[in-house]
Amino acid sequence: MTAGPGRRAFPEGFVWGTATASYQIEGAVAENGRGPSIWDVFSHTPGRTLNGDTGDVACDHYHRWEQDLDLVAEMGLASYRFSVAWPRIAPSGTGPVNEAGLDFYERLVDGLLARGIDPMLTLYHWDLPQWLEDDGGWLSRDTAWRFAEYAGVVAARLGDRVRHFTTFNEPYCTALLGYGSGVHAPGVRGIETALTAAHHLNLAHGLGVVALRAHAARDIDVSVVLNVGQVYPASDDPGDVLAARHVDDLSNRIFLEPMLRGRYPETLLEEMSTHTDWGFVHDGDLALAHQPLDVLGVNFYSPSRICGPRPGLVNDQASSPATGRWVDDPAGAATPAPTPWPATDRAWSVPQPGPYTDMGWRIEPEAFTDLLLRLSTDYPEIPMMVTENGCAYDDGPGPDGRVRDDRRIDYLRAHLAAVHTAIEKGADIRGYYLWSLLDNFEWALGYAKRFGLVHVDYDTLVRTPKDSARWYRDVVKANALS
Ligand code: GCO
Repeated sequence: MTAGPGRRAFPEGFVWGTATASYQIEGAVAENGRGPSIWDVFSHTPGRTLNGDTGDVACDHYHRWEQDLDLVAEMGLASYRFSVAWPRIAPSGTGPVNEAGLDFYERLVDGLLARGIDPMLTLYHWDLPQWLEDDGGWLSRDTAWRFAEYAGVVAARLGDRVRHFTTFNEPYCTALLGYGSGVHAPGVRGIETALTAAHHLNLAHGLGVVALRAHAARDIDVSVVLNVGQVYPASDDPGDVLAARHVDDLSNRIFLEPMLRGRYPETLLEEMSTHTDWGFVHDGDLALAHQPLDVLGVNFYSPSRICGPRPGLVNDQASSPATGRWVDDPAGAATPAPTPWPATDRAWSVPQPGPYTDMGWRIEPEAFTDLLLRLSTDYPEIPMMVTENGCAYDDGPGPDGRVRDDRRIDYLRAHLAAVHTAIEKGADIRGYYLWSLLDNFEWALGYAKRFGLVHVDYDTLVRTPKDSARWYRDVVKANALS
């Protein structure tokens, strides 16, 4: 790895890729035997997504996948990260496995291999089959075993060709947003529910790792993808430091520690004991959750700054349990309310200064370096892969048809430099997957936020590579930032 003036070369063999997720791009939600997922039901429920957007059509990738893989190939990428839609494989609780669902992913994998692209397969990127939700979803222990069965089925069909498997993408979002703040499917709000879901996800992860290895026809790499938050205290005030540690426990170490160490943080167990007796953690669960992993996938977009309760501010949570806010006490004007932490009243996410992306997320590449170094200090034994990083900007084709997305290029350049710095300082980072290949369905925000290297016109479904796609292709070719 050389870093001449103005040039930052990445290690030889550094894996360059891009990432997508099934519900965000596929569409074809009722085709070839696919059953409904919690995101179909959620997005069709009035008021749940911006403009009532759904993934019914999305980017129509289900029909246009060959063209999409050509776009990946044109950028010279070594790898493509995608997810399998569980409801295509297990559309109902009673019937057999849906072979047509497996066939689709087999064609996709073969199409990747034919183009010289290494597939990285995620089993769960949030689209739980609705029948499983009806049986309790991630609040039910049984779902962990259903996940392991599904993992085994996918590995048995594709494990002779796919070398890289990921169990879960961002279990934080499933547990804390899906069963905590309720802003994601299935829209459950609560604290104990979020913790219960988190534990069952940890358990399912471990059972899934075992099933993958048992059913794949050859040696595979197994990973989990976590959106580990880079959490800073808003000030040196001990209350803020404590609050930041609490958020780190509740959003990061709640998954990192069981999966990589076979335990929950003592501080987490203690601090959440007012909300739960942790009775859903059974003897032996943590040993099951803790399986050897080959890679830790890390997703990073933006850091957060956390404060604790402040004198003079009153918690208005009573009116809105999961989305309370601090207001002046007693009668003064409401303060600019810090963004509430979804699950507890101990910690609050403080508004941060810009610059921001279209998501309103602060741009702070140094925080990415901090995060990667923190993980390599805390878990030195496991190599890392950046499995998502990117930004939303609403740039469309100009009169000449070209999409000039300079802000994306600036964001990517700065964040790749941040990854490079972490590598120079000793972090073992094996690759980088840019989020995302295509503009796509951004969950509760519908189609309003465009993360793609490739612009999608949602009326015509025409794809137009943006300037950033060409810029990324050049970085990949050089294996360096210039
Ligand atoms: C996530 C998911 C992606 C998102 C992306 C932008 O991190 O939330 O993995 O599905 O689209 O992160 O928010």
